[in-house]
Amino acid sequence: MTKPFYVTTPIYYVNDVPHIGHAYTSVLADVLARWHRLLGDEVFFLTGTDEHGQKVQEAAAKAGRTPQEHVDLTSQRFREMGKLLGLTNDRFIRTTDPDHTAYVQKVMQELWDKGEIYKSAYKGLYNVRDERFYSESDIREGRGPGPDEVVEEVEEVNYFFRMSSYQERLVAHIHANPAWIVPEYRKNEVLGFLRQPLGDLCISRPKTRLSWGIELPFDRDFVTYVWFDALLNYFTGVLPSKRADGTSWWPASVHLIGKDILTTHSVYWPSMLMGAGIELPKQILAHGWWMADGQKMSKSLGNVVDPFEVARKYESVGGVEAFRFFLMREMVVGQDSSFSDAGMIKVVNGDLANDIGNIVSRIRKQVATQFEGKIPALPSSLGELSKGLRDKAISVVAEVENLMRLFRVSFAMEESMSLARAINSYLESTAPWKLAKDPSRQDELAEVLAVSSEALRILLVLVSPVIPGKSAEALALMGETAVPGKLAWGLLPAGREFMDGPVLFPRLEVKKPEAKPAVEAVAKPEPVKDPFEAVDFRIAKIVSAEDHPSAEKLLVLQLDVGELGPRQVCAGIKAHFPAATLPGRKVLLVANLKKAKLRGVESMGMILAADNADGSVHLLEPQGEPGAFATAEGMDHKPGVNLGIEAVDPVKLVVRGGKLHYGQLPVSAGNLPVNCSAQDEASVH
Ligand code: MSP
Repeated sequence: MTKPFYVTTPIYYVNDVPHIGHAYTSVLADVLARWHRLLGDEVFFLTGTDEHGQKVQEAAAKAGRTPQEHVDLTSQRFREMGKLLGLTNDRFIRTTDPDHTAYVQKVMQELWDKGEIYKSAYKGLYNVRDERFYSESDIREGRGPGPDEVVEEVEEVNYFFRMSSYQERLVAHIHANPAWIVPEYRKNEVLGFLRQPLGDLCISRPKTRLSWGIELPFDRDFVTYVWFDALLNYFTGVLPSKRADGTSWWPASVHLIGKDILTTHSVYWPSMLMGAGIELPKQILAHGWWMADGQKMSKSLGNVVDPFEVARKYESVGGVEAFRFFLMREMVVGQDSSFSDAGMIKVVNGDLANDIGNIVSRIRKQVATQFEGKIPALPSSLGELSKGLRDKAISVVAEVENLMRLFRVSFAMEESMSLARAINSYLESTAPWKLAKDPSRQDELAEVLAVSSEALRILLVLVSPVIPGKSAEALALMGETAVPGKLAWGLLPAGREFMDGPVLFPRLEVKKPEAKPAVEAVAKPEPVKDPFEAVDFRIAKIVSAEDHPSAEKLLVLQLDVGELGPRQVCAGIKAHFPAATLPGRKVLLVANLKKAKLRGVESMGMILAADNADGSVHLLEPQGEPGAFATAEGMDHKPGVNLGIEAVDPVKLVVRGGKLHYGQLPVSAGNLPVNCSAQDEASVH
């Protein structure tokens, strides 16, 4: 019996233009869908657009269109993104689809009949950007009214869903199903949220204020709240379809979401389902945010990464496929990541050209010249090196299966790339080009080419969910395809032709930056009189802390650095500060270091701590607001960019009298001294 795998992406707001964040979730869902198809599972992949609500109504009016005309146009952009990215979704749902709206009304009516919905007056701050009332919990989700967010006080009669009555059941469900929300720290965030009493959920908007929504079946003067309508897409999207054995697709195997929509998915949605007596989804996976070159993406900064533009820019080296590979390889699922051209080039020239491409061309060349293009048969008994490669391939397949089950896609890719490296080093060690010159070693040569071709075939099948096009082209050269069952060792039939073809994984020739003309010297940063001035010390608040996935001593911290935006930093303080004690603490951050990658996890800066003579470690405790920078008397703040550690080393900071000093000068941050519980003369690192 085949296993079902039903994966969803959030449905995207039609007002937005597709960007790397949308592309990422969509590609992640597609990779999981393709992987499960490869395993032989029965797959349903749902994505779509969220089309109702006040913002859409306003945008349509501004554009001089009816809301329906407007969403017909704007939702198209997301379907085009899907085509561009090669998504294999089974349905693209729109919340304006008639079957969806009819079903939303049916659920509403049932909840009303059961007494799960009641009518009441309500007064609150309404956040137009998010189309929801603004409350304590929203602040915790970072969705408070930012400077560019419109919040209005609204008092009105509305309909409410009795969400509060499901609080206990929900908490019990989370405890009973520890992997229901992943990663673990997001689960803890939800449990933290559920420690406070849960209110009821306002699920209507009066038509006098908003008409672009689904009418409440029991009161035609109201339309439904956009989230209520939107969340139900996951259920309605598969209603018209049935599995091969006639059973229903629901419950979803996993909802993929960004970290900003965690509460709606893990509190509102399951409560709604409990109210309606529908089974809960099996898992919710919250991923982190993409930034651009280490900065938060925003329209005003003009640094929003556009998938169409990336595909165009990298067209000569695989375009979309290179982008997909980058997205999956670069982001540790759950954590933030940053897009950069340097990162794209690294993946294109490293993983794709040097590793995978190199193997294809090396083997193909030898097979062509030595065996008239026919791949030799795998011998029944293998030499030591060949056995080593075979075992490596088998263990990589098992490990990738394991990691994919846990949604650790970037680690699964690292594992696949370790097979690529193993094949290349097998080819280096066995040197078929040397064997070819020795007539007495033709059997060995045949073995090397058979074993490496088979390992290459498996590698190409493993990466096929991520780069389906390139993988299919390369496999086709061997007369192969990536279909279920093809991950086993020893399937390549003897005598297969290894066909000639174009270079599938070309390198990107990167132009060296031209020498700058002398006049540009004026633009150089002002010289600093003291190394302290070049370092950008900032107050940062720890938002969350979790163990690094593979480095024992490291924690991965998510920081709020005020005007510098959110940051992710790896810190070697795990032995001294358990992760759970850190959220909420303020620390001092060196904010202008070069970006680094610590065992696969991006780190943008370094947090400071003092070492006591007794071996204990003490964090610096600034008192000002996140984002404020630190100064010392007589020093200017002239931070450089992308500093190396050698620029920070000469800045000797010490603790004296419980306060941070630079030499004899007290250091302040946000005009307040920086405290530290370390002893006098403890040095700061
Ligand atoms: N319409 C709602 C979702 C309803 S689901 C029932 C919505 N739409 S959205 O278009 O604003 O966001 C869709 C997804 O994009 C969210 O998962 C969000 O986290 C994600 N991203 C938006 N910006 C992002 C980045 N910069 N990086 C990664 N993902 C981000 O919310």
